[in-house]
Amino acid sequence: MPDDSTLGIRCDLDSERPAPGPASVVVFGGTGDLARRKIIPALYNLLRAERLHPDSRILCTGRRPLDSERFRSGLKEAAARYSRTGLDPSAWDRLAARIDYLEGDLESPALYASIAEALESPGMPRDALFYLAVSPEQFGSAARGLAAAGLGTSGRHPDDPAPYRRLIVEKPFGRDRSSARALNLELQDCFSERDIFRIDHYLGKETVQNLLYLRFANSVFEPLWNRRYVERVEIDVLEEEGIGTRGGYYDGAGAARDMLQNHLIQLLCLTAMEPPAGLDPESIRDEKVKVLKSIPAYSAEELRRRSVRGQYGPGSDASGRTLRGYREEDRVRPDSRTETFAALRLEVDNWRFAGVPFVLRTGKALDRRVSEIRILFRKPPGALFQGTCGDFLGANGLTLRIQPDEGLWLTFNAKVPGRAAVESGALRFSYREKADSLPEAYERLLDDALAGDSTLFIRADETEAAWSLVDRLEEAWADPAAPPPILYPAGSPPPAAPR
Ligand code: BG6
Repeated sequence: MPDDSTLGIRCDLDSERPAPGPASVVVFGGTGDLARRKIIPALYNLLRAERLHPDSRILCTGRRPLDSERFRSGLKEAAARYSRTGLDPSAWDRLAARIDYLEGDLESPALYASIAEALESPGMPRDALFYLAVSPEQFGSAARGLAAAGLGTSGRHPDDPAPYRRLIVEKPFGRDRSSARALNLELQDCFSERDIFRIDHYLGKETVQNLLYLRFANSVFEPLWNRRYVERVEIDVLEEEGIGTRGGYYDGAGAARDMLQNHLIQLLCLTAMEPPAGLDPESIRDEKVKVLKSIPAYSAEELRRRSVRGQYGPGSDASGRTLRGYREEDRVRPDSRTETFAALRLEVDNWRFAGVPFVLRTGKALDRRVSEIRILFRKPPGALFQGTCGDFLGANGLTLRIQPDEGLWLTFNAKVPGRAAVESGALRFSYREKADSLPEAYERLLDDALAGDSTLFIRADETEAAWSLVDRLEEAWADPAAPPPILYPAGSPPPAAPR
């Protein structure tokens, strides 16, 4: 490594953030999978990192009759299994002492009255975060229940000194634009938009956040980040796992609703957006919405040409183990046409990127698990090496690997030692060399929600604009003239994307 005095210079933006105050975190769906796998382990790691105030309290609600003691011991097992840092018994005990269980039915006003009462009781912080880790049909009831118990914030002035009340909402957020709009209106009736935190957990991933840092904390990339130098952008979120036990939900959703509408479109927005006026949530989210508005309203026929949908059939993995086809999965219709793979080529029709294809691909039961963004640059003009080497001269590319092996690499051409030959090589930056375990997305997102920072959460207009695109795609696919999804064997490479 060269002795370079510019290496390791650090500007710690988090140090400007005030230490978190005590808060009551109320988790609806406290006995569910999300609470056990993600929310509680994230709160545990926040406590260890001193990002959860020691006087905070966690109140989990569920329908099952459980006493708090039994509930906590179940959570301990889950935390030991899912916490990225393992479980330190004394740190767990500190968290467990702050956790309580409240039995109640989401449809019953009694539950919300008990929560309101709990928030007034001694030792419970008044500031509260309500986390809706329940099924999407219950989002509206929970928000209405909270508001009816006087816990909402709709119409509240931003400077109102009353305790904060924030609502975290999980995905799926609607199943099309009109249901997302109806849900937005319903939630906004109960909470003001600045207190609604819609989760897309991809935004909490370290490498996804790094996109903003990479683009806007450097001066070498941004001048190239446009149609003059970029030939094509590819965004992949590919998974090895099939749908597992989620057939009931997935068969009514499919890859476009489950992944494209949220995670891939967010990656697209962060890649294509203009530099924001500031690092505040609204400036960043305004720019993302502008990207969505710049995607042309393609006709159904055009969308069919620009897209590929597929469904996995029976196959095998690398070790020869037989894998089930999608139609054999539990709670999937035997004649289902739901896509488990979706690819879409679109353009962002603005001054920066007009004419540059953005190719988005996502799918399940593939031969690899990889999420990455590849920026492929144009080749140099023909006069010198390109003229002689043609296709044997590699193009420059910048790959941002979101997972696994988080990091980035830049490919470039260099001379082969001892010969007049040119060969492509890469400069690599690996997050794993910097840290053994990266914070989980949910840690960052909970930390931000506790701090009232909604930068990494989805605004109402963003979700609606993303649905408009996916609605048109779904309509194009629903047409009887549309070909059925292509069949790919489980465990195989992803089908080719539209060129
Ligand atoms: C979820 C989808 O939002 O993201 C799942 O509903 C998908 O179908 C998951 O498997 C992928 O997330 P990650 O963090 O494992 O890449």
